[in-house]
Amino acid sequence: MPHLKVTPFDSSAIEHKILQSDIITFRAKALKGGDELLGVEHGGEEFLLQIKPDEKATLVKYDKVTRPLKVNLLKEALDQVSKDLELEIESSNIAISNSKPTLSSEYFKKIEDFEHITSPKEKISVEVGFGSGRHLLHQAKKNPDTLFIGLEIHTPSAQQVLKQIELQELDNIWVVNYDARLFLEMLPSNVCEQIFVHFPVPWDKKPHRRVISPSFLDESIRVLRKGGRLELRTDSDKYFWYSLETFFSVPKTEVEIRKNEALEVTSKYEARWRRQEKDIYDVYVKCGENSEPKVLNIDFNFNIVKYRKGLEETLPKKALVFDGYFVHFERMYKTGNEKLLIKCAFGSFDRPEHKYILIEENSCRYFVSPPVKTTVNYEAHQKIMELLS
Ligand SMILES: C[S@@+](CC[C@H](N)C(=O)[O-])C[C@H]1O[C@@H](n2cnc3c(N)ncnc32)[C@H](O)[C@@H]1O
Repeated sequence: MPHLKVTPFDSSAIEHKILQSDIITFRAKALKGGDELLGVEHGGEEFLLQIKPDEKATLVKYDKVTRPLKVNLLKEALDQVSKDLELEIESSNIAISNSKPTLSSEYFKKIEDFEHITSPKEKISVEVGFGSGRHLLHQAKKNPDTLFIGLEIHTPSAQQVLKQIELQELDNIWVVNYDARLFLEMLPSNVCEQIFVHFPVPWDKKPHRRVISPSFLDESIRVLRKGGRLELRTDSDKYFWYSLETFFSVPKTEVEIRKNEALEVTSKYEARWRRQEKDIYDVYVKCGENSEPKVLNIDFNFNIVKYRKGLEETLPKKALVFDGYFVHFERMYKTGNEKLLIKCAFGSFDRPEHKYILIEENSCRYFVSPPVKTTVNYEAHQKIMELLS
């Protein structure tokens, strides 16, 4: 990831340069430790840069939570900041790449996009953790009337598949680089034909991280149309039995099991198990009836919150655990006397949301964008509001 190593500098001496900079909007100092954040506005996006001082060299780098998807934007911003602040660069990796960034493809969708986009195709199917994408690409080619939404948390795999979509001239795949367990909440009810979960990571030692769970199953049944199917394929005996138990807990579904069934396409992952003659299980869950429409009445405003002197001292330092969610004010940064920037983790225990909250004299907002509209995030948001006000 792009960064600069610069000769250590006196950050209090850069205040006037920040005021003159076209892209730096504010500077926030950590209440504990020597690191700082710079608010930056560049190329139509807002994000943060971190300044981490060290005796030998100061590191200026991206911030994980607010990082823009276009790496070149980040590189340009780092370059501009180094010029505006007249930093002495010792080493850097911010050369602009000319190759077309895959994450700016029209087939790459952000989770927030699902709040207002509609499918260009009549039918929708979802694939969870598509890996190399062989199955996803095969399905999309075979079913041109269906939009395939592929979810993958591993960014290089998402980029590879975006390249393949362009090369194979497909127009019916959307790639989403996001956790599938949260994603389904973004879809309306009764819209999906199939949800494929092929060879999910078994997580035998950390079962709470598994994709298949009672809540994932509930959401799958909600988004599947009557007759639609959730299709699990796994080589793990434990995962097979665990899923079966989970699937049988839902009323009005049909569950079908197959063993060592050959599909039209074999992923690299599957091919390895086949060579080792491992058993492969398919479990299909058919949705028995249509679900109620989903009413999304979620608002992440902080209407009543504003900065008051000493607020930072009143906030809990440790994570607070509630029924089904948590809130943790992880780190606090101050800008002048009247702005507080809080790095906050919250939401569900196994799929936490990470956001900054910017509290000013007359306003408060998530910096730079609100959380994903899930019920658990909304519960956590209401608690955060209570703690801040
Ligand atoms: C064992 S690989 C299987 C890949 C592919 N389905 C196949 O059959 O070859 C599991 C994939 O799921 C992805 N993954 C794991 N958890 C995920 C989640 N919660 N949401 C989306 N993708 C996930 C991993 O990054 C990995 O690429």
